[in-house]
Amino acid sequence: MNASLSIGDLTLSPPLALAPMVGLSHSALRTLALELGGVGLLFTEMLSVGRLPQENASVSPFLLRYPEEQPLFYQLFVSPGQDVVPAVERLHQLGAQGVDLNLGCPAPNLRKQGAGCALTNDREQVRHTVAMLRAATRLPLSAKIRLGATLHEEELVDFCRMLAGEGVDLLSVHGRLHKEKFCRRPRWDWIGKVKSAVNIPVLANGGIFSVDDARKCLELSGADGLMLGRGAVCRPWLFAEIAREIYGVSCPPTSLSLADIYFRFVQLLERFRPERRLGRLKQFTHYYGQNFTFGHHLAIAVQTSSSVEQALERAHQFFSRNKR
Ligand SMILES: Cc1cc2nc3c(=O)[nH]c(=O)nc-3n(C[C@H](O)[C@H](O)[C@H](O)COP(=O)(O)O)c2cc1C
Repeated sequence: MNASLSIGDLTLSPPLALAPMVGLSHSALRTLALELGGVGLLFTEMLSVGRLPQENASVSPFLLRYPEEQPLFYQLFVSPGQDVVPAVERLHQLGAQGVDLNLGCPAPNLRKQGAGCALTNDREQVRHTVAMLRAATRLPLSAKIRLGATLHEEELVDFCRMLAGEGVDLLSVHGRLHKEKFCRRPRWDWIGKVKSAVNIPVLANGGIFSVDDARKCLELSGADGLMLGRGAVCRPWLFAEIAREIYGVSCPPTSLSLADIYFRFVQLLERFRPERRLGRLKQFTHYYGQNFTFGHHLAIAVQTSSSVEQALERAHQFFSRNKR
């Protein structure tokens, strides 16, 4: 397995990415993943191309970033007809290592704006948006897609070839259709159809929660690398395990307990303004609690807290009863 992947001047080593996730892929989780090792590429959550130029980087929780968070691609969602240039210029000022276009999010609020996977209803609009982005930056340009509205190999492959032809340097493919829920098994073999059809690197995404999943996904997709979402929130050390066991990268296993890792995350959250911490802690805990048989007790305790202090007191109680 190739332990590094080049995209222009950038080397992903190893080719393992933390997925863009609203409320989760922020500075604290990115830093935690980097500290535990094995992650080769970071993404922001999706950012509005219209609002980005006005965001105040010194207070915005979406733009908060520390220098060690590299390489970092900023993900944009774009509605039909929106100008991308001011947002891309902003990303240059922010020191982005890459720009990612969201073509896969089916959330109703994005659908209403014609962005995310709704943008793909109009292929010419996608072509135009990618061409605008390509003209606006020399940074690596990536796109994140799902498999389409219906399973149709020729359409999928044509669409991906069009993206590559317009200058997309890297594709992240979430192996589900637009309307498919997370409870459905991702179609890793369909990611393979994209991989064999395009001459740019492909990251496979969806349903990777263990080293075995990662191995199987790579076998079925032949992808150049993997993108982990929820699996990396539940187990931020999973990148290191995959890097070690599949890519042969020297990443020592962590000696930290589950509680140590949780409270390190809490410490990293202190980078945010106080009013921005509790929501992010609740969202993280929802996934992290899944490491325990009775993790829903932790999730509910934190979920129903009205302050970070209360949440932490309850979390301390939970971890003192559940040592691992
Ligand atoms: C809470 C949450 C927020 C998400 N936000 C985004 C997003 O901002 N942009 C995006 O492209 N995908 C987003 N996704 C989708 C993930 O990037 C990923 O494609 C999906 O979770 C499947 O991968 P996984 O099974 O590894 O989690 C989000 C997923 C979750 C669970």
